[in-house]
Amino acid sequence: MTKQTVFSGIQPTGDVHIGNYLGALRNWVALQDEYDTIYCVVDLHATTVPYDPKELHDSRILTAKLLMAVGVDPSRSLLYFQSQVPQHAELSWILGSMTPLGALNRMTQYKEKAEKVGQMLGLYSYPVLMAADILVHKAHAVPVGDDQTQHLELTRDLADRFNNRFGETFPIPEQITPKRGARIMSLQDPTAKMSKSDGDPRGSVLLLDSADTIVKKFKTAVTDSEREVRYDREKKAGISNLLDIFSIYTGRSVEDLVDEYVDAGYGPFKEAVAEVVVGGLAPIRNAFNSLDDEDVSRIMARGALDARTRAEQEMADVRRRVGLGA
Ligand code: AMP
Ligand code: TRP
Repeated sequence: MTKQTVFSGIQPTGDVHIGNYLGALRNWVALQDEYDTIYCVVDLHATTVPYDPKELHDSRILTAKLLMAVGVDPSRSLLYFQSQVPQHAELSWILGSMTPLGALNRMTQYKEKAEKVGQMLGLYSYPVLMAADILVHKAHAVPVGDDQTQHLELTRDLADRFNNRFGETFPIPEQITPKRGARIMSLQDPTAKMSKSDGDPRGSVLLLDSADTIVKKFKTAVTDSEREVRYDREKKAGISNLLDIFSIYTGRSVEDLVDEYVDAGYGPFKEAVAEVVVGGLAPIRNAFNSLDDEDVSRIMARGALDARTRAEQEMADVRRRVGLGA
């Protein structure tokens, strides 16, 4: 049987943090065994907010390198820069004509970002381009964190509309989200998700942070005024977030960890969490340091070539169906 296709993307903005890793990237790596996996550095998405061209250029290669360092293996996964495969933007245009504004108006990510940078067409149609990313490869499943649920719903809706109007073309893609870690919270504000655009750098633990920095960030993590280490996402959001991280990195259950640390005090508990995260990130840092920028660039160029070939096949079918065939 042919393998099902998995597609996902990450923006090359700022630094990759453990929220990205625990919510999405570790699934990207795990799924390589069973699926035909396609991963993309979505650099066109990164142009929807104000940015510096030089920084974007550097960030793209840095992000590609980090993906390889966490275990995305170019010999098993197709890996490329979105902007180098113009079929994404082409399909986005076709899907745009089937996208009701009402759906875009409801997007919480748009509302949040538009408040900061103004109401811009690119930002507004961001979810349509994301749908095109997924559908241009006829992906069956999409590993992402839970902040992408609304965007995935729109993708499914657009696939369904297209199929109804032009005949069965796209599979309806499923979201793959981990049971634990789908939403890692900021260490400085445990009611907000850990985010690349967080104004406070202490809120996010970056994949390339040094051991010292990681320990400091966990030490200053915001918790609550009680003393007990217990899991309660509402009343003890900070401690619960730390327990989630601890549990994922150790493979131990939250119940087991609570049993051990309930009376340990927040200080020693935070130190223990920091220690497992430092241990977990060390191999990523080592792998990153052993990668060469030029090799990475070559791999990305090769990936774009293969991705263009694949995307063009799908687009030829789409063009034919919508009346734009050769
Ligand atoms: P982005 O950095 O927005 O391109 O996100 C890349 C991937 O990381 C997406 O699948 C997001 O859903 C996921 N992600 C981002 N922030 C978090 C977080 N705080 N917790 C879990 N997953 C996240
Ligand atoms: N919107 C996603 C994010 O911010 C990034 C993204 C763009 C993506 N295109 C995608 C994720 C396609 C999955 C599939 O994280």
